[in-house]
Amino acid sequence: MEQVKKIIDEKAQGQALITETKKENAKKLFIESYGCQMNMNDSEIVASILADNGFNTTQNLEDADLVLVNTCSIREKAETTIRNRLKKYNAVKKINPSMKVGVLGCMAERLKSKFLEEEKIVDLVVGPDAYKDLPNLIEEIEAGRDAVNVILSKDETYGDVSPVRLNSNGVSAFVSITRGCDNMCTFCVVPFTRGRERSRDPKSILEEIRSMQKKNFKEITLLGQNVDSYLWYGGGLKKDFKNASEIAQATAVNFAQLLDMCATEFPKIRFRFSTSNPQDMTLDVIHVMAKHSNICKYIHLPVQSGSNAMLKAMNRQHTREEYMELVDNIYKIVPEMALSQDMIAGFCGETEQDHQDTLALMNHVKYDFGFMFAYSERPGTLAEKKMKDDVPSEIKKQRLQEIINLQQEHSLYRTKQHVGNIEEVLIEGESKKSNKHWKGRNTQNTVVVFPKEHYTLGDFVNVKIEDCTTATLIGRAVGYSDNN
Ligand code: SAH
Ligand code: F3S
Repeated sequence: MEQVKKIIDEKAQGQALITETKKENAKKLFIESYGCQMNMNDSEIVASILADNGFNTTQNLEDADLVLVNTCSIREKAETTIRNRLKKYNAVKKINPSMKVGVLGCMAERLKSKFLEEEKIVDLVVGPDAYKDLPNLIEEIEAGRDAVNVILSKDETYGDVSPVRLNSNGVSAFVSITRGCDNMCTFCVVPFTRGRERSRDPKSILEEIRSMQKKNFKEITLLGQNVDSYLWYGGGLKKDFKNASEIAQATAVNFAQLLDMCATEFPKIRFRFSTSNPQDMTLDVIHVMAKHSNICKYIHLPVQSGSNAMLKAMNRQHTREEYMELVDNIYKIVPEMALSQDMIAGFCGETEQDHQDTLALMNHVKYDFGFMFAYSERPGTLAEKKMKDDVPSEIKKQRLQEIINLQQEHSLYRTKQHVGNIEEVLIEGESKKSNKHWKGRNTQNTVVVFPKEHYTLGDFVNVKIEDCTTATLIGRAVGYSDNN
């Protein structure tokens, strides 16, 4: 028992998710998510499907009849973390042998039934497009058989599943608008694990937002691997249409139009979106952002590298010059826009000059923040098959550190620009460091911390920014904003 206690007390890096319970449900589900926001949202879809099939969620691993872990394959380290987590489940299973363990998400899709051989603890393997099959698969494992469904779909968007909001602050939530990715960046495993790109019916997106507004949610982030290529023309794959005019003839809705529809119908809800791909982002989107005060002035615009040679090797469909031109245009149309990056250090064949080009591009853009990684070769990708992972790990680390250091400088430069301003902040929770302070974000997505006073969770308040660190603005509320 001592051993179990230790396991449970140990803070998982993933997020164990809980939600409200249904009285009639007798079984207990413990569900954890690793990786991207899409995985968090998918776990909410899974919890919703299982809530209709006898399962309430629990936060206690030792109580669970079923443990599901929603996994990430993006870098080797993500997979190692999950394998270690499975070891912990194993220790609990020794004490509770009837507990079943299922693996969801990208690792499930990548490893398929191999998972059952490699990790004896696993009973169930379910890929990202097969969650509706979970009730059947659970029947299989309850009958003592292993169960696997990793079939990827051309049109599954879960548009008809209303996600159960797990561990929600009741203020901000995610709504998926596309699934999969057709881009085939050579380093990336996502197209293999999440399948072909498909867009969700705008009607079901607006319906979901309507129901969330009724529940008093204040901020929605529209999610997709590549939101800018959102295109609804009746469902299925874009490539099933014979030509462009066939697509145009269907009543199509693109991302700029979807964003406009959302911001117009819900003026009191604040909208964000993620992730944008520079090759697909049009200035129409920026003009829609400029037009609506309820669309946050922040774009996550991954570039991966500032070198043309690397961009080409990565199969990113733009040059550094095109990217910088896009950024210049964005700043021209919306001068207060915040931008963030994803950057990969040490991709195949990267020279010191390529690395210097990355630093120079960062100096041009001066991102507000960034997510930076050392290249990690992923099985099955084009880079793994055709290119040599030839940058020594020490050099990768050193370049990554230089990128991080420069980003820190730029982040501080950006946060300093806010000091002295009065900015609208949506209160999203208590500050991690002090229970006397609220935390929220301004339109640019920068975290703002300020004394609670009489304000409450979910209020839009105007905050006078008095100080900053590289990542946080510190201030004092001066009143409610007009948005309340
Ligand atoms: N479009 C996606 C990108 C998913 S991957 C999205 O919605 O965020 C997130 C980031 O992980 C990528 O932008 C890239 O910077 C990084 N990444 C992907 N594959 C990687 C690899 N093999 N090694 C290191 N970083 C990687
Ligand atoms: Fe991956 Fe590139 Fe798509 S990074 S998710 S293949 S846009």
